[in-house]
Amino acid sequence: MPMFPDGFVQDLKNRADIVDVVGRFVQLKKQGSVYVGICPFHQDHKPSMRVTPSMGIYKCFACGAGGDVFKFVQEHERVEFPEAVRMVAEFSGIPVPEARPSTPEESARERERDRLLEMHRLACDFFERELRKSEVAKEYLKKRGLTGQTAKDFSIGWAPEDGDALPRRLREAGYTDEEMLRGGLLKRNPERNSVYCTFRARVVFPFFSSNKSVIGFTGRTLDPENPAKYLNTPETPIYHKGNELFALGVTKEEIRKEQRAVVVEGNIDVVQLWQGGVRNVVAASGTAFTPQQARLLKRYAGKRVVLVFDGDAAGQKAARKAIPVLLAEGFEVRVLTLPEGEDPDDFVRKRGGGAFLAQVEKAQDFVDYLVGAARLTPDSSPEKRAELAHAVKEIVGAIPDPILRESYADKAGDALRIDPRNLAEAAGREPPRPMRPAAAGFAPPPAIERDLARALLSPAALELDRTVADSFDPALLSDPRVAEIVDTLFEQISRLGAVDLKEMAELLSDESRDALTSILCEGDADRSEAAVTATYLQTVLFLQLRRIDARLKAIAGDPARLELWLEGNGQKRALENLRREAGRPDADLVGLLARYGEELEAPVREFIVKSKK
Ligand code: CTP
Ligand code: MN
Repeated sequence: MPMFPDGFVQDLKNRADIVDVVGRFVQLKKQGSVYVGICPFHQDHKPSMRVTPSMGIYKCFACGAGGDVFKFVQEHERVEFPEAVRMVAEFSGIPVPEARPSTPEESARERERDRLLEMHRLACDFFERELRKSEVAKEYLKKRGLTGQTAKDFSIGWAPEDGDALPRRLREAGYTDEEMLRGGLLKRNPERNSVYCTFRARVVFPFFSSNKSVIGFTGRTLDPENPAKYLNTPETPIYHKGNELFALGVTKEEIRKEQRAVVVEGNIDVVQLWQGGVRNVVAASGTAFTPQQARLLKRYAGKRVVLVFDGDAAGQKAARKAIPVLLAEGFEVRVLTLPEGEDPDDFVRKRGGGAFLAQVEKAQDFVDYLVGAARLTPDSSPEKRAELAHAVKEIVGAIPDPILRESYADKAGDALRIDPRNLAEAAGREPPRPMRPAAAGFAPPPAIERDLARALLSPAALELDRTVADSFDPALLSDPRVAEIVDTLFEQISRLGAVDLKEMAELLSDESRDALTSILCEGDADRSEAAVTATYLQTVLFLQLRRIDARLKAIAGDPARLELWLEGNGQKRALENLRREAGRPDADLVGLLARYGEELEAPVREFIVKSKK
């Protein structure tokens, strides 16, 4: 049974912006009508990858990786097709219609998840309403400097003292105690064989999934004596703490905009920073940073992350653990150390968001941070140096890119006065990306045929006189790939009245599709109709000249005969134009010949040279 309703995948593929999707993982630069970037599927430093939005495909001309937007996500994120479809849908803000699960168990699980999500939404609304009624809770938030708007932004609520209020409300809405237990909103007291509410007399912050469903809560007590300062939803069918980042559902757009994430420890830190204008922020909230969280963050943050952990020993230890996890996912990790005993919340309240941002800009790279935090002095013992070197080696070893790893090892070697080779060996946390077999060498089509195809791809080509299209003979082209492209192009123009490159990507053979990609990245196809016509005619002329060159060979020694012959073929005017171009006093004959030389047989070339005299 299909995973998605008919047509959904195709429709998503048409609507998804492949540049946006690939751009989340790879830095892309516009070049002509394509985007280029460094291929993430093999070790490379040159931008060999092309992303062609008009065709909806990517292609690496070095390793041969290529395909559509789903294939990219599948390969990059190492997920199966259905997951890739879901991710692309999420990136594109397109809801995935009800999947049709294949087994009764699956559909039961889906139904349970849906009900739990709906129940959490209700619970969240309930808590928010309770907050508006609770003076103590509002007073508490106010004391912490948080505004009503901020509470709204994060759907902050209040779980009342009365532990029966929420279950009562949820039962009314048709949810069973069993479901509340499954969702972690109720807890069982086995001794008294009763249930009680998980969150009571706490300010509650919902956990949002990245598509902003409420999947759990964390609640802060107001009682300074309470040893459980924060209480979190346990693992449930909809909440796995190691997979989630606090507030990502709220802040992801800002993170995407900035292409950088600030990662802090506490929920309040996130909320306070947001209110202070630092909005690209998330928290791991009470867990050691996991690879799943790093991958999730990577979807929005691009490559850049700044860790701002508390100045205390626990915070520094957590930062140290998070660094290799983020490095392993390809992040560029910087660390901001706040003054001893201050967390981001304190900092922003004292000095404001602007001052915090200034600190973020000054965050150290992780090597400087590690070395700085160790407070080495010229007379630190060799043991202390060695201990630090081992720790640094372990962390540097998590960097997947060998060159980057080496340059960080160099840097650390300098700081520690240690041979960097001792630091550069890969500790290899993640298996390295499998290398692909080298792509069969790609040879671009001849320049003149590329010119023709590019001209015909511009919107102005649609205005071309119909007779032009009708008179075109693909057999003129020497490159079968360009012939296929042009043929398909004219076919589309006559069938659709337009060029549909996405369809073209599917219709073309692999070789022709690659050729088209290489053509599109050569420059702007957006030219005037006159320019297109000129290119078209010029190209056709040259191609025709080439075609008749066998006959030319026989008579090329005799310009008079040749001219007669050309006249007879209706080619004379065209040739005169050509001659004019070549005959201008400042004509760059070498350039002309270099440009067209490979296309022309020797007799024609000689003829042009001779007629210049
Ligand atoms: N945490 C937790 N359980 C606790 C204490 C902390 O889950 N008992 C998590 C929370 O996500 C908390 C984060 O660890 O936000 C950082 O803890 P801490 O620095 O102690 O709290 P703050 O963020 O400073 O909280 P507050 O400002 O409210 O005191
Ligand atoms: Mn705090």
